[in-house]
Amino acid sequence: MQLWGGRFFGKMDPQAWQLNASLSFDQRLAHQDVRGSLAWAGVLEQAGVLSPEERRQICAGLEAIDAEFANGEFIFVESDEDIHTAVERRLGELIGPLAGKLHTGRSRNDQVATDMRLWLLDHLPALDASLRELQSALIERAEKDLEVVMPGYTHLQRAQVILLGHWWLSHFWPLQRDRERLAQARQRVASLPLGSGALAGVPLEVDRPALADKLGFAEASPNSLDAVSDRDFVAEFLFCAAMIGIHLSRLAEDVVLFSSAEFGYFELSDAYATGSSLMPQKKNPDVFELTRGKAGTLLGYLTALLAVLKGLPSGYDKDLQEDKPPLFAAYDTLMAILPVLADALRSLAVRADRMRDAIDAGLMATDLADYFVNKGLPFRQAHALVGKLVQLAQSQGKALNSLSLEEIRSWVEPEINLEIEPAIYSVFDPVQSVTRRRSLGGTAPQAVRRQLEQAKQVSGRF
Ligand code: ARG
Repeated sequence: MQLWGGRFFGKMDPQAWQLNASLSFDQRLAHQDVRGSLAWAGVLEQAGVLSPEERRQICAGLEAIDAEFANGEFIFVESDEDIHTAVERRLGELIGPLAGKLHTGRSRNDQVATDMRLWLLDHLPALDASLRELQSALIERAEKDLEVVMPGYTHLQRAQVILLGHWWLSHFWPLQRDRERLAQARQRVASLPLGSGALAGVPLEVDRPALADKLGFAEASPNSLDAVSDRDFVAEFLFCAAMIGIHLSRLAEDVVLFSSAEFGYFELSDAYATGSSLMPQKKNPDVFELTRGKAGTLLGYLTALLAVLKGLPSGYDKDLQEDKPPLFAAYDTLMAILPVLADALRSLAVRADRMRDAIDAGLMATDLADYFVNKGLPFRQAHALVGKLVQLAQSQGKALNSLSLEEIRSWVEPEINLEIEPAIYSVFDPVQSVTRRRSLGGTAPQAVRRQLEQAKQVSGRF
């Protein structure tokens, strides 16, 4: 069945028909399309377009169609251009010409925008739950590995000592922001286009706020032309998805690096690693690499949609049909990655010895400067002084903490009027180094414990 054609004499070219059709990807909107129609039938009854009995028949037909979709019994036919056409065609088969009344005052333009929004409202909770599950894995790991010391990096150069628990939680908070972002985006999804008609509104008495309420929306859209043109909500979702991808890629990249022989901080479990077809010794972090790679794909979905939207004139344009593939693909991509990633993280074995061995005294150079600061030296001067000591140690091919007290004294004491005690060497203890960083959000064990409690609370995990 074709929903248009009265003014046409000729048939559409078969290839152009294929190009025009969206059923192959919009059939995922089947349930939402039926729900929107059920609600619209109610509107038509109130407006006097349908008698109560007609409405009952239409709704019974729609319910039957919904059941066919649910049971995988719905049969599409060649002429079904899109999901909206298919549902209306089937309704006609089930209840006869009365089906033709359902589209009164409605256009596929407000219908498709409604279906898409309904679909997102239906699916956002599952995405949020998957993000939360990944947060749970990070919380579990942070709790377990809380006091393991490791090098922290800037510019991928060893910088200062941190706790592994702190590192795990550094990947928790971006996901919390992602969840908040999605929750905020959801508020804008929940604006109902139905009742906007093709672009100008409908010539019926329609209580749109009540309709919005019935369908689980927070409001009815305030401008019919905007309502059928607007795909901001898809773009916002795709931005959220791309941002999640970018966060996951940072986490994944850290794991890829840390599980290499060069770092040796993590060992991949067999369940989440793959082998090489050629090199028998290989154990590859494919799950993490794919996570990193899919971040690029997610970014592509966002740019694809924005490029489609750019420069479109007001009103519905067929270009907008291109909104669905990236929306579904982004959702599916995230739902495929998130659960696997959560369990892959849970399965990582930590090599605390390797992390400890990677901490050389240089990572405590800042602590040494702080020692001088505590003695009253301005930080800039202390920084320069420690720089000199680093240079001295390096020129002798030894570690910073292997300089003898005499060496340190002979360099430091002429510069500043300060007595250096043997206790100066305690600055090189990595555990003391982290313990000193007690500031809110810092890496001291007590600060990380506080952070962990906060993480549990905000994520609603425990
Ligand atoms: N399949 C179309 C889409 O996804 C439905 C809307 C069609 N509207 C129209 N005026 N041709 O956008």
